[in-house]
Formats: sequence, C-alpha cells, structure tokens
Amino acid sequence: MSLSASEKAAVLSIVGKIGSQGSALGSEALTRLLLSFPQTKIYFTHFDLTPGSADLNTHGGKIINALAGAANHLDDLAGNLSSLSDLHAYNLRVDPGNFTLLSHTIQVVLASHFPGDFTPEVQAAWDKFLALVSAVLTSKYR
Ligand code: HEM
Repeated sequence: MSLSASEKAAVLSIVGKIGSQGSALGSEALTRLLLSFPQTKIYFTHFDLTPGSADLNTHGGKIINALAGAANHLDDLAGNLSSLSDLHAYNLRVDPGNFTLLSHTIQVVLASHFPGDFTPEVQAAWDKFLALVSAVLTSKYR
C-alpha cells in the first residue's frame, strides 16, 4: 500500500492547517481514545488523565509532531519512524490493535476541527496514511 500524489497532497494539506494546534488536537485525540476505549488507560497509568492535563497536552503534541514529521517523509516512513518503531515494539509493547483505535480518534478530531477541509477524499488519504504509520510502528514486534 502506498499513497498517490493526490493522497500525499491531501495529508500535507491538513498538516498545514494544524500549525501550532498540535498539542491541543493530540490531547483531544488521546482524551477521546481513553474515554471511548478505556482499556487503553493501562498504557498511561503514570499520566494525569484529566482532559487538558499537562501530561496529555505534552504527549498529544509529541504524537502530532511525529505525524507531521512522517507526513514530510512519505517516501521513507520506515526510516523516519525507525526509532519510534523500536520504542513501541521493544519498550512499550503496545497491543497493535490499539493503533486502529488511536487512528480513529485522530480522524474524529481532524473532522471536527477542520470540517470544511477534512472532506471524504481527504479522510480516505488520512486513513491510509495512519494505517501506513501504524504498520511501521507495529512492524518490529516479535
Ligand atoms: C510514546 C507516537 C500510538 C502509547 C510515544 C511518543 C511518540 C509516539 C512521538 C514519544 C516518544 C519519545 O518521547 O521519544 C505515536 C504515534 C502513534 C502512537 C504517531 C500512532 C499514530 C500509540 C498507541 C499507544 C501508544 C496506540 C497505546 C494505546 C505510547 C506510550 C508512550 C508513547 C505509553 C510513552 C509515554 C510516556 O511515558 O511519555 N508515542 N504513538 N502509542 N506511546 Fe505512542
């Protein structure tokens, strides 16, 4: 699976809209993840999980930053995400099924914050992009 030129442009168009809102959007995606799929709380027992907490804002910012970085290296996602892939596979051992859940809540956040831009075509491109990122981050499990 790879992204076409128009899908790449669609992914980058939303990255451009996110700008400095990365922490807020990432924090909301995490809050939606933790509320809708409470089983994901086991990975964040050391965090203050109150919506809008410093922990969630900082971590949300890191996730969106990583996605923005990946969106700028769409032809080498494996290389760009290599150390994050090591972290999730060897240290964190996050159950791979959770990546689909986070990908879902990220898309809900983007749809609700950028309703005019997150068209069905743009969403399809983001869904593919997040699936590719998730595939890299879960590729080293054994
Ligand atoms: C850490 C990105 C999916 C749990 C991180 C970090 C980043 C990141 C950038 C910080 C790495 C560092 O500090 O060096 C992503 C991306 C994901 C993803 C882009 C998929 C789109 C998940 C999922 C879970 C998860 C699905 C579990 C439900 C964690 C945990 C940490 C972490 C527990 C360590 C947090 C801490 O103690 O600071 N992730 N992640 N990640 N991630 Fe992920």
